[in-house]
Amino acid sequence: MNKSLLVTSTCLSGLAAALCLLAQPASASQQMAADMGCYNCHGSPKLQTAPSMASLAEHAAKARGDDEALKKRAQKLRAGSALHPIAAHERLSPEAAELLVRWLSEGAK
Ligand code: HEC
Repeated sequence: MNKSLLVTSTCLSGLAAALCLLAQPASASQQMAADMGCYNCHGSPKLQTAPSMASLAEHAAKARGDDEALKKRAQKLRAGSALHPIAAHERLSPEAAELLVRWLSEGAK
């Protein structure tokens, strides 16, 4: 298991939250998204109804630089939907969701 995956799973499990905050990188990356399985659905080829990473990035770009809007998008992502529950979204920590949404808003590079 590589280090970032270890950090990610520690954060996901909700254990040692303070440690997790310290260990978490200051920004998300393709590596983090890959470790968290985002590309399983949003990659290429994408999975059925899932939007591509590029189109998620395009959508998120509207909130670029707007901390409030990015926070709201992160919350919405974690809140999920009763009709389409997506575990990979709902198990994100608030910090991981924000980092990923911010990364998307900056072009997902
Ligand atoms: C099991 C498949 C799957 C995985 C894994 C997955 N997603 Fe999604 N995601 C979807 C689908 C399907 C949608 C389309 C919206 C819906 O049906 O809720 C979506 C929508 C989104 C949206 C748009 C939400 C909105 O408010 O419009 C974002 C942002 C997103 N995903 C980010 C991520 C990130 C970041 C990860 C990795 C932690 C991830 N997704 C992992 C399937 C997935």
